[in-house]
Amino acid sequence: MTFPVDNPEASDAASDQIVRALAGASSLTVLTGAGVSAASGVPTFRGEEGLWRSHRPERLATPEAFSENPRLVWEWYQWRKERIAACKPNRAHEVIAEWSHRYPAFTLITQNVDGLHERAGTRNVVRFHGSIWEVSCWNGCRSSPARWPDHTVTYAELPPKCPHCGGLVRPGVVWFGEGIASETLELAARALANDVFLTIGTSSVVYPAASLSSAAKARGAFTGEINLEATPVSAQLDASVHGAAEVVLDELSSRCDDSGR
Ligand code: OAD
Repeated sequence: MTFPVDNPEASDAASDQIVRALAGASSLTVLTGAGVSAASGVPTFRGEEGLWRSHRPERLATPEAFSENPRLVWEWYQWRKERIAACKPNRAHEVIAEWSHRYPAFTLITQNVDGLHERAGTRNVVRFHGSIWEVSCWNGCRSSPARWPDHTVTYAELPPKCPHCGGLVRPGVVWFGEGIASETLELAARALANDVFLTIGTSSVVYPAASLSSAAKARGAFTGEINLEATPVSAQLDASVHGAAEVVLDELSSRCDDSGR
C-alpha cells in the first residue's frame, strides 16, 4: 500500500500493517540509508541539502578521483569524519538496535558508512558500502590486512600513509564504479529469507542495494518502507509509511511493545 504524502489515513493503515507484520514475525531484516542518520546531523546525499548537490561524486568518490588527487579526496573524507564524530545515534538507530536483540534472526544491511548503528548497539550489521572508520592500503600491499579500523578523526598529515608499506591508504568505503564484496552480497542475500524486510531512509536509486526490497518480496517477505517521500520502489512494496524515521520508528516500537513483541 502506497499513498500520496498528504494522505495521513493511508499512512496510518500502512503503519498498522507493519505493526501486524512485526508482531507475527520471528525474523527481521532492515535496510537503511542516509535518511536514518539525518536527525543525528549527518548530511544525506540527495535532496535539497544533500552532499551530491554541492559536490560532484566523480571528483570525490571514485577510484579515478583518488588516483588523480588523493589529498582532495581525503580532505573530503576527513571533513565527513569530523562531522560524523560530532553526531550521536538518534531514536531510529535506537529502535533498530532494540529490534536486533529482540528477533531471534535479525540482519541490518546499511548503506551508511557512519558507524552510528554500531554505536547504538545493533547486532549483525552488514556494512553494504563499507565504513568511514576503516581504511585499506591503496596499493594492496602484502603486509597489510585487507582493511583495518582507523578511528582517526583529524589526521596529522593528508593523505595518510600505509603503516605497512609507506604508500597511501584509502577510506574503507565502496566508491562509484566499484563492486560490493562477494561475502557482503552473500550475507545480504541470506537476509532476504527473513519474514519481514523494512527499507528505511534510502532513496532506493543506488544498485544493488535498491534491488534488495523487491528481491525480499519475491522471496515471500512482508516488505515495508519508511521514508519522508515516495521512492522508486514504494509501489512494489506491501506498506509504505511517509514520515521521519526517528518519529515513525519510535511510534512503531511503542505499538509493538503494547502488542507484546
Ligand atoms: P540519499 O541521500 O540518496 O537518500 C536519503 C533518503 O532518505 C531520501 O529518500 C530522503 O527522502 C530520506 N530521508 C531524509 N531524511 C529522512 C528522515 N528523517 N526519515 C526518513 N527518511 C528520510 O541516501 P541513500 O539512499 O543512503 O553511496 O544513498 C545511497 C547511496 O548513495 C549512499 O550509500 C552513497 C550514495 O552515493 C556510496 O557512497 C557508494
